[in-house]
Amino acid sequence: MRVIELSEYGGPEVLRLAERPEPGAAPGRVLVRVAASTVNPVDQAVRAGFMGDFPKPVVLGWDLAGTVVEDAEGFRAGQRVAGMVPWFASAHEGTYAEVVSVEPEWLAPLPDGISLDEAATIPLNALTASQALGLLKVHSGQSLLVTGASGAVGGYAVQLAARAGAHVIAVASAGDEDHVAGLGAKEVIGREDLGGQRVDAVFDAGTAGPSLIGAVRDGGTFVAVIPPGLPEPERGIRVERVNVVPDAAKLRELVTAGLTTRIADVIPLADAAEAHTRAAAGGLRGKLVLRVSDDVSRG
Ligand SMILES: NC(=O)c1ccc[n+]([C@@H]2O[C@H](COP(=O)([O-])OP(=O)(O)OC[C@H]3O[C@@H](n4cnc5c(N)ncnc54)[C@H](OP(=O)(O)O)[C@@H]3O)[C@@H](O)[C@H]2O)c1
Repeated sequence: MRVIELSEYGGPEVLRLAERPEPGAAPGRVLVRVAASTVNPVDQAVRAGFMGDFPKPVVLGWDLAGTVVEDAEGFRAGQRVAGMVPWFASAHEGTYAEVVSVEPEWLAPLPDGISLDEAATIPLNALTASQALGLLKVHSGQSLLVTGASGAVGGYAVQLAARAGAHVIAVASAGDEDHVAGLGAKEVIGREDLGGQRVDAVFDAGTAGPSLIGAVRDGGTFVAVIPPGLPEPERGIRVERVNVVPDAAKLRELVTAGLTTRIADVIPLADAAEAHTRAAAGGLRGKLVLRVSDDVSRG
């Protein structure tokens, strides 16, 4: 099978197309033929060597959407699924690969009506959003500031928090205000407006940084997505970092929730280096989806 391997850390050019044997069936595992994966900031950070040294070569990739290869663990051959490989906690064999062997807890069946490309954008980022909102104890009437609402994690957080009845103030990238308002935000602001906010809770999905704790009322809550974004607690504010973990039941809910997904482009697996170059350049609106296998229905 074709995979994208990483044998050294560096720029996008270190990503190489390689051939590997397909994984075989194993107890407690499900084989999935991957139709689509996505390019996420964590893939770029691992590629660049920012996340530590792993036994190489590794295969990047957290998100997958595809079809089950053979009956296993309650899944049936041909069934459409989406899933998240918890890359750091696994064997570092990610989803930039035509076939993956995954734990059933990492997967959810897909309903009709969502394409595999759309579904691939949900697992890592919507699970992160959902788990962050859990840490924030999001509830009706709560005022919640979400940064990075033009991005994947922030965009899903806005949608889920709005559905929970929170008063969402979302930070949109320039020119993206209408899209973000359409996700359910009550107020849409720009980064330049962050200084004037006072809210019950902040979800810093856009990594505006620790100084944003100034926007939280005394006794409120602040959740960050990366360790450098964690402020020192002050004024009775609870500060937490979300660290996404697989949750099959929640993922099943998320893929059937009719969330607005956003795809910037679909790029063949062999061009993963080009996809990383485009992602690193910034300014994308939506995820870059990697088209991994062409021999499964994408509908
Ligand atoms: N801890 C976990 O478990 C976990 C899981 C998943 C993701 N993450 C992290 O979550 C972050 C977001 O991921 P993503 O996939 O949503 O990325 P993304 O799709 O690239 O979106 C990031 C968004 O943040 C905006 N942004 C950048 N700098 C900002 C700033 N200073 N203030 C406000 N907004 C800013 C970007 O706007 P522009 O495009 O206009 O620059 C973009 O809309 C990444 O750091 C990722 O590594 C953490």
